[in-house]
Amino acid sequence: MADPLSEKARVEAALRYIADEAVRYLASIDERPVRTGRVDEALRRFGGPLPEDGVGAMPALEELVAARDAALASSGPRFFHWVTGGGTPAALAADWLTSALDQNAFAHDSTPLGTRVETVAIEWLKDLFGIPASWGGVLVTGATMANFVALAAARRWWAQRYDVDVDDRGFAGLPPLPVFSSGYIHVSATKALAMLGIGRSTVRRFARDAVGRLDLDALDAALRDLRGAPAIVVANAGEVNAGDFDPIALMADLAERHGAWLHVDGAFGLFAAVSPRTRPLVDGIAGARSVIADAHKWLNVPYDCGFAFVRDASALPPIFGIGAPYLPDSGVMYGVLGPEASRRARGLAVWATLRAYGRRGYREMVERHLDLAQRVARRVDASPELERLADVPLNIVCFRVHPKGLDDEGALNELNTRVGAALLEDGRIYVGTTRYSGKVAFRPAIVNWRTTDADVDTIVDVIRDLAARATAAPIH
Ligand SMILES: Cc1ncc(COP(=O)(O)O)c(C=O)c1O
Repeated sequence: MADPLSEKARVEAALRYIADEAVRYLASIDERPVRTGRVDEALRRFGGPLPEDGVGAMPALEELVAARDAALASSGPRFFHWVTGGGTPAALAADWLTSALDQNAFAHDSTPLGTRVETVAIEWLKDLFGIPASWGGVLVTGATMANFVALAAARRWWAQRYDVDVDDRGFAGLPPLPVFSSGYIHVSATKALAMLGIGRSTVRRFARDAVGRLDLDALDAALRDLRGAPAIVVANAGEVNAGDFDPIALMADLAERHGAWLHVDGAFGLFAAVSPRTRPLVDGIAGARSVIADAHKWLNVPYDCGFAFVRDASALPPIFGIGAPYLPDSGVMYGVLGPEASRRARGLAVWATLRAYGRRGYREMVERHLDLAQRVARRVDASPELERLADVPLNIVCFRVHPKGLDDEGALNELNTRVGAALLEDGRIYVGTTRYSGKVAFRPAIVNWRTTDADVDTIVDVIRDLAARATAAPIH
């Protein structure tokens, strides 16, 4: 097989084959283990030199499908590691359509459809989260790049206070840029600071305890010490260990009083805004100058998709704009609002899922997940050999195995690390471990639209089972 043109007649057969296989796979995803025991065997299929002569589409696709056991059922209902969403029926199908249409979402000129649905999707997202309609926004690959976009806007604003166009001239002659946060700041925000030339270690974390909770007085004092000089403050809506929140409204007041740029990283926690039960956790976001979240987490849109909102939409084109005689220079152009020029038309999947399920659908799903997290917490509390380490304000339950009589912290960390490794090897469910205030702990995060009571019950069941085996003593 040589030139792909010779396979033009195979397009339908290839798509139907993959559609059938995908449907079969997804029909089994509620029951299948997250990790099969055949990963290594499946991976051995790949390798060897670049083929001189290709095998053609169908054999190539069959090889991929045959290696499906090496995929994790991460879009299924029992994947609680990291913060990993799935794809709603509407989002998944729209994502397929996105590939079939294969639009370049640079501008209206390159895709009227992709650009229009991105605009509407961004308007709807702002409405869903209570972000003022006057703000600008853009879809990007995920929360890391959304943090990058928002912090780039913050960097521009900061340099303008010194009459410098940092995106034109760079940092020469500018003082260090103060960046303040709590201990909750996510590594993707510090990565974005590194990519922006601000530097990872520039961040000063004002934490009042080992968990990382904000020391508001220390933040206030640091801002006061700047005597009106501009700074960036990063607030965290939903930290990854226990789903806790910085006091955003108080931080917004401080930022307003001291003339700082408040940025809110709400990769998954922004979805607290969707339910009246958790809405108070994000009170104050409209007082920020930038807010970001992921779509591939709690919106349940397939990878990869996130979004950034900025209060002053005019800040983005001077940062991300590109101009050349062969490119469009007018009309709506998302390619000049973020880091990518050529871009996937991610708006189709975001629009489709919001159109399909609406405000009420997302509120119901988020509230179901809030209830599921409380259910896990109750089962943890009822298990004598488990210890919950934190409150559950949202969708993450932080706990560890703590058998009676075993109180040495080193031994407990060693035991929980061992149970954590056994859990990933076991494959029935996936839950990651973290360090919470120095303690090795489990932190299941519930964001998948498929997850039910029975699925979350496996969290405690499997961890108790593996803990019993690890301590080699039956637990009753
Ligand atoms: C609070 C927070 N911010 C940012 C990110 C980075 O998101 P992404 O992996 O989509 O870039 C995450 C991912 O878990 C997160 O939890």
